[in-house]
Amino acid sequence: MEVVALVLLSVLLGGLVLLLLPVWGKKTREGSETEPSAQIANGQAVPEKQPTKKQKQQKLRKEKIQQHTFTHPLLASALKAHSGNVTCLDFSSNGKYLASCSDDRTVRIWSTKDFLEREHHCMRANMEFDHATHVRFSPDCRAFIVCLANGETIRVFKMTKKEDTFIFSAAHGDFQKKHKASIINIGIAETGKFIMTASSDTSILIWDLKGEILASINTNQVTNAYASVSPCGRFVGSCGFTPDVKVWEVCYNKSGGFREVCRAFELKGHSAGVCGFAFSNDSSRMATVSKDGTWKLWNTDVEYKKQQDPYLLYTGRWSGKEPCRIALSPDARVVAISSVSDITMYSAQTGEIEEEFHSVHGQVISDLAFDTSNKFLVSTGDRAIRVFHNTAGYRAAISDMKDMFKKATNKGTKDRLQQQIKDAQSALDAVCKQRN
Ligand SMILES: *[C@@H]1O[C@H](CO)[C@@H](O)[C@H](O)[C@H]1NC(C)=O
Ligand SMILES: *[C@@H]1O[C@H](CO)[C@@H](O)[C@H](O)[C@H]1NC(C)=O
Repeated sequence: MEVVALVLLSVLLGGLVLLLLPVWGKKTREGSETEPSAQIANGQAVPEKQPTKKQKQQKLRKEKIQQHTFTHPLLASALKAHSGNVTCLDFSSNGKYLASCSDDRTVRIWSTKDFLEREHHCMRANMEFDHATHVRFSPDCRAFIVCLANGETIRVFKMTKKEDTFIFSAAHGDFQKKHKASIINIGIAETGKFIMTASSDTSILIWDLKGEILASINTNQVTNAYASVSPCGRFVGSCGFTPDVKVWEVCYNKSGGFREVCRAFELKGHSAGVCGFAFSNDSSRMATVSKDGTWKLWNTDVEYKKQQDPYLLYTGRWSGKEPCRIALSPDARVVAISSVSDITMYSAQTGEIEEEFHSVHGQVISDLAFDTSNKFLVSTGDRAIRVFHNTAGYRAAISDMKDMFKKATNKGTKDRLQQQIKDAQSALDAVCKQRN
C-alpha cells in the first residue's frame, strides 16, 4: 500500500514539474530580454544588456570555476557569450559573419571583422522550447537554418537587417520529422536550391527550401559518420564505417527543376572507416581522415562523367585519437585535424606539421572551420569559440607566389607578384610580432 502511495505521489509530482517547466522556461527567457518587442517574436536580435557590477563579479567568479583556460601566441581571440556548450559553427559565404549554436538555447551571430578587436559583439536568436545542434547560413545571408535537438527537424529563421543589427524570426512551420536516427549534420547548397540532412543510420535526405523531400539517399556505409554539402553547392558527400567516401551530384534540368541525385565519384584508399572529410571552396580538393591513422588529400578536379577518378595527392599520419574532425582551408593549402581537444595544422603541399595546439577546449572539439579568407581557423568544444591565425596558410601562399615569380616571364606579372609577396610577408610578420 505504502509503495503504491509513494509511486502515485512521485507520478503526481513529476507531472507537476513537467507542467511547470515550460512556464518557468518561458519566464526566465523573457526575463532576460531587454526589449519588449523581443517577447513577441520568436528569437529577436537584441544587443546584450550591460551587466551590473555585481552581476559582473558573479559572472567572473562563475567563469573562473567553470571555464577552461587556454593561451597561445597564435590565438587571435576567444569569442565568449554562450552559457552552454557550442556544438556547431558556420561562416556566411560573404565572409562577414560567423554563426554558432549552443545548448544554451541560442544561436549567436558574430561579425568576423571584430575578430582582432578586444570586444566581440554578437547578436542573439532564441530557440523557443528547444536548442539547435547545427546551424547553417543561407547563401544570400538573409536566413539561417537550424537542426532542433528535441524537435529533430529543421527550422528556418529569417534575418532582417535593421540598422546595424538583425531581427530574427522563425518561419511558419518546421520541416516534418523524417529521420529515424539522430541527425548528424545539415547543409544548404550555395545555389540556394536544396537543403541536406543526414542521420546516423545510412540515410541522407535532400529537401527543397520549403521542406518538401526531393530525394532520399541510402549511403550503404553501415553507419554515417559525417556528411556535408560541398561549398560550391553541387555535391553531397558521406563517410562512415566503410573505408570509402561517396560523393553524389544533385542534378537540375535546364529550366532549374530538380532532376535526380546521381553518383559522382568515390574516394578509395583508406584501409579503415573514414571519420570525416572536407572540401576546398571550389570542390577541386578534398581532405579525409580515417581510423587507419592517416589523413589524405585528393585531387577531385576530374571529369567524373567521363569515368575519370579522383586521385590521391598526399597521405599524412596523425595520432588516430577519436573523436576527430578535419577542415581544409578554402584555398586547399592547409589541413587542420582535431583529435579529442587538440588541433594539428598540416601543410597540404608537404604534409608537414605546421602548428600544434594542445587542450584547446575543456571538452571534445565539436567543430572546426576555416574562414572564407583563409586567414583564420576557428574551433569550439566548450562555451568558447577560439580563433587562430592561419600562419601556415600565409606561409604556403607566400611559397606558392615565390614559385610563380620564378616561372613568370612577363615583367608586369613579376612586379605584381613581387608586391603580393611583400604584402603577404608583412601581414605574416604582423601576426608573428604579436606572437613575441
Ligand atoms: C524540369 O523539371 C521540372 C520539375 O521537375 C519539370 O516540371 C520540367 O518540365 C522540367 N523541364 C525540362 C525542360 O525538362
Ligand atoms: C576560393 O578561394 C580562393 C582563394 O581564397 C578565391 O580566390 C576564389 O575566388 C574562391 N572560389 C570560390 C568559388 O569561392
